[in-house]
Amino acid sequence: MASRLMALWDWFDSRMPSVAEEWRKHAAEYYAPKNFNFWYYFGSLAIFVLVIQIVTGIFLTMHYKPDAGLAFGSVEYIMRDVWGGWIIRYIHSTGASAFFIVVYLHMFRGLLYGSYKRPRELVWIFGVLIYLTLMGEAFFGYLLPWGQMSYWGAQVIVNLFGTIPFIGPDLALWIRGDYVVGDATLNRFFALHVIAFPLVLLGLVAAHILALHDVGSNNPDGVEIKKHKDPKTGHPLDGIPFHPYYTVKDIVGAIVFLAIFCSILFFTPEMGGYFLEYNNFIPADPLKTPPHIAPVWYFTPYYTILRAVPPLFNSQFPGVLAMGVATMILFFLPWLDRSPVKSIRYRGTLYKSALGVFVVAFLILGYLGTEPTTVWGQFGFDAFFLDTKEIATWVGRLGTVIYFLFFFLMPWYTVRDKCQTEPDRVTM
Ligand code: HEM
Repeated sequence: MASRLMALWDWFDSRMPSVAEEWRKHAAEYYAPKNFNFWYYFGSLAIFVLVIQIVTGIFLTMHYKPDAGLAFGSVEYIMRDVWGGWIIRYIHSTGASAFFIVVYLHMFRGLLYGSYKRPRELVWIFGVLIYLTLMGEAFFGYLLPWGQMSYWGAQVIVNLFGTIPFIGPDLALWIRGDYVVGDATLNRFFALHVIAFPLVLLGLVAAHILALHDVGSNNPDGVEIKKHKDPKTGHPLDGIPFHPYYTVKDIVGAIVFLAIFCSILFFTPEMGGYFLEYNNFIPADPLKTPPHIAPVWYFTPYYTILRAVPPLFNSQFPGVLAMGVATMILFFLPWLDRSPVKSIRYRGTLYKSALGVFVVAFLILGYLGTEPTTVWGQFGFDAFFLDTKEIATWVGRLGTVIYFLFFFLMPWYTVRDKCQTEPDRVTM
């Protein structure tokens, strides 16, 4: 049997040797630093979740109906009558949140170890493009179940485009394909969600990994392993072949991920309303606005930034602009950070504190975005005669200022930070 398989492989290899070549280049002979740690699980996990989303998405598409009159019912049909439909749907909805958790941790690793710095600027830029595409993909997908939150969330977000001076109203109309979110919107969001954006995402992920494999991976020490090569073999002295060392490590990561993922999937797939909002179990009703419209958790930091900026001449545009700048600024990170070292291990107190404050501010922004602006009434603050809506708004504003200061002051504090010299070789 084994020799037959080998013969089959030889037959294939002699006709298409590039498959084996690519395997060697990107896995067997891709030398990665030997000191990868916990934070290096999330790249391969992101690929894993992407595959899960595509496979479950294909099966959902077999039964889903992109029609304003039938969409909600078709999702209920998948959940109740299609064999295995409920699990496929819950894998896909939990997978969406898992995707963002993995990607946020993956991006945070970049901030910890300065992975966006020279020569990996393009790896980072492709990463930010992936992040923005992923946001679009999630936004289009959320309209498809045609529940109250799908409908009103889409209405609110598309209206934001309407605030852009001059072109806004026409742009919003063009996106919707109608004067309100309706059947035309659902059809085009379906097309974008199932084919256009996944294709772009796959292309970007390929570019992201090719760019990374051309320059080589960074690591927790920030050492460029290509600088010290074995004169005989030409392999980096601080590197080990990706296969089998990191393929095995990544499989361990995938198993632990699956254990956590399945616990959520089987015990709490709505995750207390964070992964699937309760209002979305009610069919969309264009005549009935829900009292509290909140996006899914992964958008909420930006939603708070939007709400934190006061309107100007009755227009929400300043908030929309702030939200846009908050995401676009990520592209410039490689040039904003002027530190001589990459890894947080060798940075000084300034960067360490800035990153710590930024993370706390980002989490608070995220939390505030999930709640109505009257959030703190429930904690009894009202008893002190404080206007809780005001407090939440001002905390949101403070968080927004911190978010922007982290980036805008970066050229200043990264130059002044007292860093240690980075080692020349990997330390274990
Ligand atoms: C679908 C989403 C994504 C996938 C599948 C993906 C995949 C990967 C993989 C497989 C690696 C190499 C393994 C590792 O370092 O963990 C990697 C590295 C990297 N990714 Fe991503 N990524 C995604 C999103 C992003 C995003 C959103 C960013 C940043 C905005 C980003 C920035 C980086 C950087 C800077 C590296 C190099 C890290 C280093 O060498 O230290 N990635 N990515």
